[in-house]
Formats: sequence, C-alpha cells, structure tokens
Amino acid sequence: MNVLVTGGAGYIGSHAVKRLREGGHNVVVLDNLFRGHREAVPDGVAFEELDIRQTDAVTDALKRHKIECVMHFAALAYVGESVPKPLMYYDNNTGGTVSLLTAMDNAGVKRLVFSSTCATYGEPDRMPIVEDMPQSPINPYGWSKLFVERILKDYAAANSDFAYAALRYFNVAGCASDGSIGEDHEPETHLIPVLLNTVLGKRKSVTIFGEDYDTPDGTCIRDYIHVEDLVDAHAVVMEKLQPGDQRFYNLGIGRGCSVREVIDAAKKVTGNDFPVETGDRRPGDPPQLYANADKIQSELNWKAKQTDIEKVVQTAWRWFKGHPDGYGKS
Ligand code: UFG
Repeated sequence: MNVLVTGGAGYIGSHAVKRLREGGHNVVVLDNLFRGHREAVPDGVAFEELDIRQTDAVTDALKRHKIECVMHFAALAYVGESVPKPLMYYDNNTGGTVSLLTAMDNAGVKRLVFSSTCATYGEPDRMPIVEDMPQSPINPYGWSKLFVERILKDYAAANSDFAYAALRYFNVAGCASDGSIGEDHEPETHLIPVLLNTVLGKRKSVTIFGEDYDTPDGTCIRDYIHVEDLVDAHAVVMEKLQPGDQRFYNLGIGRGCSVREVIDAAKKVTGNDFPVETGDRRPGDPPQLYANADKIQSELNWKAKQTDIEKVVQTAWRWFKGHPDGYGKS
C-alpha cells in the first residue's frame, strides 16, 4: 500500500516507517521538522517537508504519491507543555488533524490510522483501562487528541466509505532492536531516556517524582509498550481496515511497572549505579495507568511481544550508548 506517515521523522513515526517498509509498503514521510530529525528518514524514502496545516500542499502530496492510507503521528506530545500553551496544542494537534482530513477528503484518501493516547482517559477510578471507559482528559494534550477522536466519528458518520482506527498509546518505550533508529527529544522528560542520559553523564542524578503514592513501592505505575510492538500494531490494524470501520484500541502490554522497577532495570542493564533522589510529586501524574489490552487481541489476534522491562530498556540503551548526542552528531 502507498502510505503517508505524518511525523515520520519523529520517534514513533520513524519506527513506523521502518516497520512499514519491512512489510513491503511504499512509504512517504511528511514532517515539518519542528521536533523531528531529517536524519531519521532513511535514504530512498520520499520526504515532504510540510506542516499538516498546509492543507493545499498536503492535498497535492497525497495526490502526487497516490496515497492510499495515512498514518498520522505528527503532533506535539508534552503533557506539561500543553498546560501553559493550550492553543499551540489545539492548533497543531486538533486543527492540524482537521487540515489533514480536509486534504485527505480533497485527494480522496479513505483510510487513516490515528495516534491517540491513554491521556484521553484522564484519571479513571478503575484499572486496568478498557476502551469503553469514560474519557475525561485532565490536560490540554489529552483534550487535543480526544477532540480528534470526536471529529473522526463525525467525519466517518458523514462518509460511509472512510475507515479509521484511533490507537490509544500507553507509555511508549525502547528503540529499534538493531540500533539503527531511536529516541531523541529536546527537551527530554520521559523516564527511560532520563535514566540513560544520567548513565551517560548528561545529568547528575535522577529524581523520582513522588514515593508516597498508594502503590506497592510508593512510586507511579505505568504500562510500558515497546515502540516496535506499537508500530507493528499500526501495520496490522491498517491492513485490516475495511470501508466504514471505526476502530479504537488501547496499545499497552496490559500490565504496569513502577518507576522504581524501571530504575532497577536501567541500573542492571547499564551496570551503572547512578544516583537517585526522591522529589515532590509531578502535578497531573495519576498514580497508576495501565491498559486492558484484550480488545485488540480478541479482534485482531495481536498482542505485544516485548514485555520484559529489562529487555525494553536494553534496546533503548543500545541506541543511547551508540548515539549519546542523538541524531546527526554521532
Ligand atoms: N518520572 C520520574 N522522574 C523523571 C521522569 C519521570 O519519576 O525524571 C516518572 C513520572 O512521574 C511517571 C513515570 O516516571 O510516573 C513515567 O513518566 P514519563 O514522563 O516517562 O511518562 P508519562 O507517564 O508522564 O507520560 C506518558 C506519555 C504521554 C501521555 C501520558 C499519559 O509520554 O504522552 O503518558 O498520561 F500523555
């Protein structure tokens, strides 16, 4: 299939490009390079340096490359940043997707796989999270993605031959197992990269954001899904989409891991006993978030394979060790 990957120069998008090419698809990357890396796009992959809000230019790119499906990763994705800058998030994530859908409509592209998030659930009172639980985000980032889910429902209701899936990610982690591509964010706030940057000496210590949660070891619990599993699910879902489909799936492993457990895994994998401090809770952090991952398994016979946190951290360590300064500088 001819697939346009928006945000294909970013962390998750670049892994999707790799997986799609390995699956025999013809891939075109569209990215504005605001936070993506040109170096993450392999030679031989067509690259459109565009913003999804450039509706006419995106329409033209969809037509020129005879795109049959859009995999849409392009988005701003810092929960913390979204609070003081909500308009930036609604403009890029929500408005940007309306523009992309308009371009798809203009060009007659009828399939979309959308990158949604478990942040659309907010702070559910029960765990694990099932897809039909209420969605009530607690920050603009979560809302910016939930609004898109709503818009997709309305667009699909008006266009019976349109098909889409909204995939709600839990904590995406790890890097390509072959070490070829990885994670390079500026600023970096995610737990595993923060730990590995500390091992590399780029930070002096790690701070645990709260050890007084009502969890077994007092630290927050998250569901870490390997990026290769995550993008594999996208390819599987894309290949199954039929006209009229509206699919919603959680993408997690279905089990949580505490901050302490991730730190222990990082110490073991790297052989480095880096300093760890305890700090205050980070505002907006729910104590526990983990998926019920049964729906995608029962409907599409798909489940995550890389479920051992040490092995997940190992793949990230391979990338960080080999590329201490990220893309283009090593
Ligand atoms: N953490 C620390 N110290 C750090 C960094 C993180 O203790 O230096 C803790 C956090 O408090 C949290 C856990 O590690 O408990 C994971 O934090 P991340 O920042 O790696 O990830 P989040 O769970 O905050 O965010 C993820 C995704 C978001 C998504 C969100 C849903 O990255 O895109 O889950 O709540 F929106």
